[in-house]
Amino acid sequence: MSQNKIAKKVQNLQSSAIRELLKHSKMDGVISLGGGIPNPDLFDREGLQIAMDQVLSSAWKEAFQYGLSEGSPELRAAICQLLAERAIVCDVDDVVVTSGSQQSLDILARALIDPGDIVVVERPTYLAALQVLQLAEADLRSVGTDGDGMIIDELEALVKTTPVKAVYIVPTFGNPGGVTLAEHRRKQLVELSQRYDFVIIEDDPYGEINFTDKTFTPLKAWAAESGNSDNVIYTSTFSKILAPGARVGWLVVPGWLKRQVVNLKQATDLHTSSLSQSLTYHYLNSGRLAGQIALIREAYKHKCQTLCEQLESALGDHLTFHKPMGGMFLWARFNYPMDTTQWLKKTLANGVVYVPGEFFYCNDPDHATLRMSYVSVTDENLKEAVLRLKASLN
Ligand SMILES: Cc1ncc(COP(=O)(O)O)c(C=O)c1O
Repeated sequence: MSQNKIAKKVQNLQSSAIRELLKHSKMDGVISLGGGIPNPDLFDREGLQIAMDQVLSSAWKEAFQYGLSEGSPELRAAICQLLAERAIVCDVDDVVVTSGSQQSLDILARALIDPGDIVVVERPTYLAALQVLQLAEADLRSVGTDGDGMIIDELEALVKTTPVKAVYIVPTFGNPGGVTLAEHRRKQLVELSQRYDFVIIEDDPYGEINFTDKTFTPLKAWAAESGNSDNVIYTSTFSKILAPGARVGWLVVPGWLKRQVVNLKQATDLHTSSLSQSLTYHYLNSGRLAGQIALIREAYKHKCQTLCEQLESALGDHLTFHKPMGGMFLWARFNYPMDTTQWLKKTLANGVVYVPGEFFYCNDPDHATLRMSYVSVTDENLKEAVLRLKASLN
């Protein structure tokens, strides 16, 4: 079959660089700081087993049946309760269950973006959001980030002169940058979205994985406080706090977009797996989620601390990084010109991999950057990984 039968917009669609990398991480003896997946040793197997037993004994008819495109009402009500703890006040009707945040992003891109619409992302940003936005044929622009997250003054300069349709942002413990949008910038961003009438797509998979005792109020909640949250669309997921294999996430959709989002969800997969939704609902109902989040926070915080200490002592003269306040990723930059994609060949030969930073940019990549994930690596291997990185500089 000839190549030209393939739709033009998918002809150049790349496989995720990270997925390609994961192949190497499976090689014997290689320590991977590359993957972005949660630590499976922390999955609450017992709690999931109890929830699954309940599904199979008392909710099996609904769990194996078709369901509503919006998602199961009982799960949506439980999500509203969870959101209240994040300061987001919403109604069951505002929530649409998706098959993970990735699907939320895909649905939003299709609901909002016409080819050529200008969408702003952080520099760097989540790779698979770039894929989705590129598929929707958005005209992508990027705004820099520093230790306080997206530089909103830079965004303001852009929106003053350019008709921006949407801003995509991971404001809390971001992937890949590990940075968190400061409170004054959150308010500034929300205010800009109202003044210049653009949509904010707030992607919040990591907000619960907080290593501090500060709270980071979502943009959605700030917008509601200012009296109008219509411009903020919020998505989150159970992937990082419960189990990514369940594929359950959700959207909080403003009324003006609800019908289109539900219709797109229907066209995509009718609805998220009833079995997964039922499992998630019964798990939430068991009251175990809070304990599970506390466990994940402590474990990831410790690993993050270990990696930071090792990097500071062994590579402090070479790399600069912001210590993450939560989440799963540490982003670092060489203090001198460096091509981390080239360097990866050397580090792989020495038995350690990471993700070169260049893949997280929609334009003008910074080749001196890299992303490291600490969550699934033992303390001993985190130390060894840093030694191997250091040895690869020679
Ligand atoms: C920023 C961000 N958004 C969305 C997702 C997708 O998550 P889900 O498993 O809910 O589809 C991820 C997963 O790594 C992510 O890092």
